[in-house]
Amino acid sequence: MERKKRTAPSIAAMKKAGEKVAVLTAYDFMTARLLDAAGVDMILVGDSAAMVVLGHENTLPVTLDEMVMLTAAVARARTAALVVGDMPFMSYQASAADAVRSAGRMVKEGGAEAVKLEGGRKIIQKIEGVLDAGIPVMGHIGLTPQSIHELGGYRVQGKNDETRERLLDDARALAQVGCFSMVLEAIPWQLGREITEAVSIPTIGIGAGPHCDGQVLVINDIIGYTEGPAPKFVRGYGDARKVVSEAAEGFVRDVKSGAYPDLDESY
Ligand code: KIV
Repeated sequence: MERKKRTAPSIAAMKKAGEKVAVLTAYDFMTARLLDAAGVDMILVGDSAAMVVLGHENTLPVTLDEMVMLTAAVARARTAALVVGDMPFMSYQASAADAVRSAGRMVKEGGAEAVKLEGGRKIIQKIEGVLDAGIPVMGHIGLTPQSIHELGGYRVQGKNDETRERLLDDARALAQVGCFSMVLEAIPWQLGREITEAVSIPTIGIGAGPHCDGQVLVINDIIGYTEGPAPKFVRGYGDARKVVSEAAEGFVRDVKSGAYPDLDESY
């Protein structure tokens, strides 16, 4: 049965309906097709692409041109899931005009149906500009990897009263300005629950506990297609490294031995 197209307003309405929101990242056409068929509500073309696709150490180097290209590949899958394009570092931080122009490229050239920006009250004017251009915005607070140097590392945020209050105020501001949802990354589960109860839009957690309105994970993490130990909040659902390694080893073995191709595989 064909699924109903998800839109930013229909995602926002899922909170009231008590329906959990399932979100995964994707960076290419085929993965987007498979995630859509599996029933995800939103596909986030995350700037995590910098690390898991492009091999950078953190998310900072990925460019707007690269994010537009990856988003366009996902959008070409024409999914029922809402396609959200992640705005890369320095595509919106300098000014509201930059934010509008960059978000415009994500929609016009990349085919994104919404964009995600990292930050709370400090970037409200930029979010407002993007919303005024008619582009739905997903917020992102807590651990914001684009501020890795300011934060001093990938650390759980909101652990003391002051930072907890700050994150609550940021969350309220994002809901009030008109974001249709927000990512809560790496915060104590109690704060995840508190923010979820305090705002009217869906909270999408990643390392923010079970009380969020939805969950997002990086596709490479859940299919076992990354190097090194996964963060505590990742649940693995596959072993793609094994699949790729075994296929590649089998191919090399057969070519070297002359077992591939046989005549049935030849013209
Ligand atoms: O870039 C990304 O993949 C993200 C998610 C982890 C929320 O921002």
